[in-house]
Amino acid sequence: MHRQPIVIANWKMHTSLAEATTLVQRYVRLAEAAEDVEVVVLPPTIWLPSLVEAYHRRPRNLRFGIQNVFPKLEGAFTGETGLEMIRGLADYVLVGHSERRTLFHEDGPFINQKLRAVLAAGLTPILCVGELTPVMLKSRSRGRPTVLERESDLRRQVETALDQVHERDAERLIVAYEPLWAVGTDNNVPGPAVSAIVEILRDLIADHLGRPTAGRVRMVYGGNVNEATIGEYLLQPSIDGVLVGRAALDIRLFEPIVMAAADRNRHAVQHTGHGG
Ligand code: PGA
Repeated sequence: MHRQPIVIANWKMHTSLAEATTLVQRYVRLAEAAEDVEVVVLPPTIWLPSLVEAYHRRPRNLRFGIQNVFPKLEGAFTGETGLEMIRGLADYVLVGHSERRTLFHEDGPFINQKLRAVLAAGLTPILCVGELTPVMLKSRSRGRPTVLERESDLRRQVETALDQVHERDAERLIVAYEPLWAVGTDNNVPGPAVSAIVEILRDLIADHLGRPTAGRVRMVYGGNVNEATIGEYLLQPSIDGVLVGRAALDIRLFEPIVMAAADRNRHAVQHTGHGG
């Protein structure tokens, strides 16, 4: 099955409004040059309305999302952003990022609530999973989990996140494999290892949502993706794209990533005759 390649830019708590506006302008040119790749930008939520207004005429493959949301439409939740508030502004919502899980203590049931609320609002969740338990990390050799530990962490996260999620809602789900020990560090998981983990994740998703739906879910990798590491992920047919943090803030670092995804797609299309 051909799934459209996707590159997701997580800007985290970076950029001024002026910087964000300039950066999106560069993303527009990039998206025009890579029209088969879906480029999703997750700016700080406070800049979103200005960016959407400034770029309401943008290429169809350049999409906006947000890094976090509260799982209610509106209400007495001081400091939070409700799903109703982002209607018409964002199509994608990051759910379960390792920084939210660890720094803000978001647990599995809360992430499940968010995932279901995002789907119910008609938006596309980008669910991040990956081994992260800090206590366990300390006891692991060189901070890296064993295969068994990794599988049990992932199984628990996927099972909890997908609890009561229905097959018919879940086709547009995107799952990002993002282990804590790679995100924001100089470590990255080798491409073949990510491919094996993606297969495990797809099986876990199939257990909950059935094979056909699991086959449509797009799977991406995140954690120290840059110009030097992108190639090894794109070599793996099971990996549909990447989630980029640091390298997304500098167009000179981001452009080679998006263009590499476009090249891979062109080759895949020539090979199979299916477009993205
Ligand atoms: P990084 O961040 O690319 O800076 O490692 C990835 C992420 O947080 O999603």
